[in-house]
Amino acid sequence: MHLLSHLFTNNRKWAAEMTRCEPDFFARLSRQQAPQYLWIGCSDSRVPANQIVGLLPGEMFVHRNIANCVIHSDLNCLSVIQFAVEVLRVEHIIVCGHYGCGGVLSALRDEKLGLVDNWLRHVQDVRSKHHSQVVGLANEAQRHDLLCELNVLEQVVNVSQATVVREAWARGQVLAIHGWIYKLTDGLLRDLGMCVRAEAEIAGCYESALAQVATESGAAR
Ligand code: CO
Repeated sequence: MHLLSHLFTNNRKWAAEMTRCEPDFFARLSRQQAPQYLWIGCSDSRVPANQIVGLLPGEMFVHRNIANCVIHSDLNCLSVIQFAVEVLRVEHIIVCGHYGCGGVLSALRDEKLGLVDNWLRHVQDVRSKHHSQVVGLANEAQRHDLLCELNVLEQVVNVSQATVVREAWARGQVLAIHGWIYKLTDGLLRDLGMCVRAEAEIAGCYESALAQVATESGAAR
C-alpha cells in the first residue's frame, strides 16, 4: 500500500468535485494559464496563497520561500518574476508576509537553526537597517510584528528594483507592486499602504508606508 495513500484519496475527491462543478475545468486550464497576479509569500503551511484570497488554480502565479524574501541574486525568485511579468504579463505583484512568521522571529532572536540562518541573514539585514525603531518597542511580540511588516516593505522595494520590473515600467507596461501582511490569528489580510506603480514612486511609497508602520507600531496593537 502506498505510504501516503490518503493524499491520493483526497486528490481524487478534489478532482471529482472540481469536475462536478465545472466539467471542462481541467481541460480548459490545461490549454492555457492566464493569471493576473504574482504572489510572493512565505512557505509557512498556514499561509496558503490561493485559499486566502479565494482564487482557483490558474488565477495566481505563486512563489514562496521562507520569510518571503526577494533577493537581488536569487535566480529562482527572479526567474519567477521575469516569467510572470514578461510571459504571463501579470499586472500585480503581491508581496505578502505574515505575523507570527517563524523565519522572522529566528532572525529577530539571532537563533542558530543551521543552513537556513544564511537565508534569514537577509531578514537580519532588515532588522539592522531599522535597529533603533525595532529595539525601541516594549516587548518581543511588538518587535516581531514590526519586523514582519518592515520585511514586507523592504521586499517590495527589492521587487521594484529588479531589472525585469524596471524594464517593464520603462516600456510602459502596467505593473503594480503591493505590500500586504496576513494575520494567522484571524485569517485576515492587511494592506501595508505600499503600492508602487513606477520606478519614480519607489522612494515616496516606501517612506510613506514606513512612516505609517512606525506610527502604528508605537500605538497599542
Ligand atoms: Co513565515
